[in-house]
Amino acid sequence: MNTSFDLNKILRPHIITLAPYSSARDEYTGHVGIFLDANENPYGSVTGENYNRYPDPYQAEIKQKLSPIKQVSPDRIFLGNGSDEPIDLLTRATCTPGHDHVIILPPTYGMYEVSASIHDVKIDKVSLTDDYHIDTEAVLNAVTPSTKIIWICSPNNPTGNVMQSDAIQTILENFSGLVVVDEAYIDFTDEPSWIRHLDKYPNLVVLQTFSKAWGLAGIRVGMCFASPELIRILNKIKPPYNISLPAQQALLEGLNGIEKKDKMVADILEQRDVLTGQLQALPIVVKIHPTDANFLLVQFEDAKAVMDYLIRETIIVRDRSRVHLCEGCLRITVGTKEENEVLIESLKKFQPQNVIV
Ligand SMILES: Cc1ncc(COP(=O)(O)O)c(C=O)c1O
Repeated sequence: MNTSFDLNKILRPHIITLAPYSSARDEYTGHVGIFLDANENPYGSVTGENYNRYPDPYQAEIKQKLSPIKQVSPDRIFLGNGSDEPIDLLTRATCTPGHDHVIILPPTYGMYEVSASIHDVKIDKVSLTDDYHIDTEAVLNAVTPSTKIIWICSPNNPTGNVMQSDAIQTILENFSGLVVVDEAYIDFTDEPSWIRHLDKYPNLVVLQTFSKAWGLAGIRVGMCFASPELIRILNKIKPPYNISLPAQQALLEGLNGIEKKDKMVADILEQRDVLTGQLQALPIVVKIHPTDANFLLVQFEDAKAVMDYLIRETIIVRDRSRVHLCEGCLRITVGTKEENEVLIESLKKFQPQNVIV
């Protein structure tokens, strides 16, 4: 438990008192009638689909369906335009530009820093340890009276590993700002989600996404789980209709497909093992970092040469070789069986002289 947390001390004062935009669908929530209140086109859409009506601003049907899946009440769920939207909204709700700080734990997902920079929020970086774990003492030492958020990515991008739960717990109990645990890759690990601790820690925020395991990156929906009070604030400051009608429709259908999601995750995990074994056998590979995600962080003897070679082979991986603690590494998403076979066959043919100088 964290007894020193007070949401009102964390929020920017004007956000607490802000009167949100009141949309037509806020003011009349019924579904039946002649709707002449939102300046929509009554005749339909230029496409065959009927997209002429604004979508539910709070996505109630989706939250009802998602609630038992995630074992969390609907009033603790916020849906955003990708999880990048709650990252931005959490920063905006809490951090006064030019004054407040956030802590990030590099190497990690880039948007925490970019979002802070957009809002002129100071970023304090506390490096992960050499084995990619949280240096709890250093994190707590970096906290200032102006620190509003500590961003923790678990499983972490780009390193792939889950962060120690005792470290997260210590931070939750000793920091009186928000601790955001970004679980974009949670479906690829056996570790349980932090969602189960939301009741215990009012300063805990959990992010997840439909972009990875659910295979819905194109519809752009991310999830944020937090206290009902914080969810109300996010709803207050979001754009009124932040999840489009086609996205909501796709998601309602997608939530019926848990078995398909589980099957895809099982396939990806199987392929992750196969790919790991095959990469390990290649002499150009120095190290494969242990992963709990759908990607591998792989250290090569000459990462740049391999990257350039793969691009010429039209195989695109992510160059992380210049990232602190990931020197010499490429991040490789686990593909389909066929894609991985092409990758391995190409890498087998790689010769250092393939490099164009
Ligand atoms: C750790 C992490 N968080 C969030 C995101 C963004 O996800 P979304 O597609 O929901 O915006 C990513 C995307 O790669 C990610 O790696």
